Amino acid sequence: MSRSKRKWDHIQYALETGQKRLTGFDDIKFVNQSLPGSNLDSVKIETKIGELSLSSPIFINAMTGGGGERTYRINRELAVAARETGSAIAVGSQMAALKDPDERRSYEVVREMHPDGIILANLGSEATVGQAKAAIDMLQADALQIHLNVVQELTMPEGDRNFEGALTRISEIQQSVGIPVIVKEVGFGISAETAAGLYSSGIRYVDVGGFGGTNFAEIENKRRNRLLTFFEDWGIPTAASIIETKSTSPELSVIASGGIQTSLDIVKALALGANGAAMAGYLLKTLMENGREDLIKEIHLLKEEITVIMTALGVHTIEELKNVPLVISGETHHWLEQRGID
Ligand code: FNR
Repeated sequence: MSRSKRKWDHIQYALETGQKRLTGFDDIKFVNQSLPGSNLDSVKIETKIGELSLSSPIFINAMTGGGGERTYRINRELAVAARETGSAIAVGSQMAALKDPDERRSYEVVREMHPDGIILANLGSEATVGQAKAAIDMLQADALQIHLNVVQELTMPEGDRNFEGALTRISEIQQSVGIPVIVKEVGFGISAETAAGLYSSGIRYVDVGGFGGTNFAEIENKRRNRLLTFFEDWGIPTAASIIETKSTSPELSVIASGGIQTSLDIVKALALGANGAAMAGYLLKTLMENGREDLIKEIHLLKEEITVIMTALGVHTIEELKNVPLVISGETHHWLEQRGID
């Protein structure tokens, strides 16, 4: 199967399988504050993620590129939406463009449309230092995402089967590129053990890519005859993955992602210790079903609602959110208790 066909299958099946809302965010409850002492006009949603300064915590996460005209158009529309809302944006894996220069334009359009924006390059952990540098140059990227997707690869008939040496390669890239390297999952969740391994190899940015939203086991199973259905329930729900990752070190900047769909999900993720929140499937669906203008409206609305929720909680900055009281119940509580993490 051609790479271009695979890219389009991913988009189609991501839209078809949808977002499950099994993220664990429903187990997190804020505690109402009747004397918050806050003022909506003073609420600020700028955030710092390590070296990256963002006007809002919302990222458009890695999705596509390298699938010809159709992925060119999707990336162009996502980049315009990022520009109009001041959001950071990641492109999909650039390996396609490193192997076939004709595919470069479907990635380069993101920088063309969003010349002053924060743009994240993206490659898998099989990448070499040279490939990482080329991917960054292609976009004059502000940061590089390296995705880990073992379960997706194992579910894909043509996927990788050898995962040796990934941490060493990631560490070499981190030491060579001179911009933040964000290691991310794609919907199966980063564990405390993985985060600790990354941290000791010098990584300071993790995007948890938790379970509960876009499900790449389900997407890949739709593309094959022999189904590995057991992987469809496999993964660390996003809320638990944020807490697992954050427990590794206060110096780790954490981006929450995996099934994030609402402003309340975003604020809960930030209150659990994330510095930003990234969305893929939900924004793709909004774009494909309702168009670019609705996508822009939706992101503006999410930002407005974040300030409303922060006002109710009595906080004026994203940093202060980390100290608001919350209650964790249900499966997420159970998960954290068994894992010995608070
Ligand atoms: C993705 N994702 C992804 N991630 C990555 O690092 N490189 C990639 O090339 C892709 N490709 C891709 C295609 C499509 C169509 C989707 C929907 C997603 C994964 C994405 O960045 C994110 O980690 C997961 O989708 C989980 O987040 P959501 O979708 O639940 O918000």
